[in-house]
Amino acid sequence: MLVPWQLIRFFQLIKETGRNSVFQGKYATSMITCFHYYDHLAEEWLRGMSEDLGMAYIEGRTADNENMLNKDHRADMRFFMNNFVNSCRNRYPVERKFMPLPEAPSPRFDPNPAAKPQITKSNPEHTDLRTVLLTDEFHEAGNLSKMIDIFLDSYPYPVEVIDINQFPYESGCHGCLKCELVGECDRKDGFQDFYMNLVNNCDVLVFGMNIEGRYLRPVWKLFLDRSFSNGHRTSMMGKHTAYLVAGPLRHLPGVRQFLEGKDNVGRENAIFIISDEYEDSSYLESLLRNSAVHLSQSALAGYQKSINFLGWGGIKIFRDLIYSMRGVVGEDHRFYKKHGLYDFPQKELGKNFFNLGMGLAFKSKAVRMQAFKRMPEMYIKLHKEIVDNKKE
Ligand SMILES: Cc1cc2nc3c(=O)[nH]c(=O)nc-3n(C[C@H](O)[C@H](O)[C@H](O)COP(=O)(O)O)c2cc1C
Repeated sequence: MLVPWQLIRFFQLIKETGRNSVFQGKYATSMITCFHYYDHLAEEWLRGMSEDLGMAYIEGRTADNENMLNKDHRADMRFFMNNFVNSCRNRYPVERKFMPLPEAPSPRFDPNPAAKPQITKSNPEHTDLRTVLLTDEFHEAGNLSKMIDIFLDSYPYPVEVIDINQFPYESGCHGCLKCELVGECDRKDGFQDFYMNLVNNCDVLVFGMNIEGRYLRPVWKLFLDRSFSNGHRTSMMGKHTAYLVAGPLRHLPGVRQFLEGKDNVGRENAIFIISDEYEDSSYLESLLRNSAVHLSQSALAGYQKSINFLGWGGIKIFRDLIYSMRGVVGEDHRFYKKHGLYDFPQKELGKNFFNLGMGLAFKSKAVRMQAFKRMPEMYIKLHKEIVDNKKE
């Protein structure tokens, strides 16, 4: 859903060392190797960052493991590169896609805890609702720390707070796939155990995230890349999450889509994504307080959100990927089987017979006319039964 952490770090170093001018006015493009899973977000980020450096970015290409084995694909690649080189040589004009980000920070969040409504802390019947808050900022001066304080003050159950900067990362994921093949992460800093312990033992996971540049603070990508040691198995499926974000989220629809996509594909039931972009502190405060309670109620009720295109699309990409490599990625394969994620349409025998029968019958125009007339009634037949029989 983004470039690897190492590349984010590269851009961070350019900024830290004040070397932006090296890139100004140059041409850029990208060739992204991937499985086409949210690859558009990776390119958007790269393009936005390049444009911020004053570069002329030309739409790049993506390729999965097999694309470049295809002759036509290679011919297109050659055409693309020739065009890119020509554009550089002749300094052709290039469309700019993204606006620069706003200079001004979010409004200062000034909550008034004295005015808080009365809430009942910790319901003794449900002290087992284990909640963890992962954050990149805690008890500092920023808006995020204050949002977290209000959340903790309003959430009716105990919360364990973990500052993700504190973990002694050996380094980033280097994509060796030892985790997929052997099971264990090649890094020896204990992250895999730490992460699995975390997600296996919590019911609710809350994220406190600062935006930096066109993404979150880079440590988040380091953290998320390293969680890849769990393969393509969803780690919070059926549980509950929530996101507190400080920074210009409304100017970064890609970051929003990343969070919503992560929620949708992981079926993690994100109950809220709240940013600090509110002029009125008391409004943000009551939003946080209400949402904290709503999150705990949703978790206790086991409420499952519906998922949209972001989820269905992403899940189908993984489904096909894991199925096609099932001999190699055994753990993933077993997980997909166990959780019914192999929902291939060809497996639905009932529908197959239905289509066989309809295919024959539909050869007749009279039958098609009949079907056309009865379509609205047939479509709601089963739903009507539920309503007529007052079924739950
Ligand atoms: C930590 C990690 C995260 C990945 N995330 C994505 C992703 O979000 N979307 C995607 O299409 N592929 C993703 N992949 C798969 C790689 O893009 C794919 O393996 C690619 O072939 C790697 O190419 P490279 O060896 O040139 O880096 C990820 C792989 C790793 C190790």
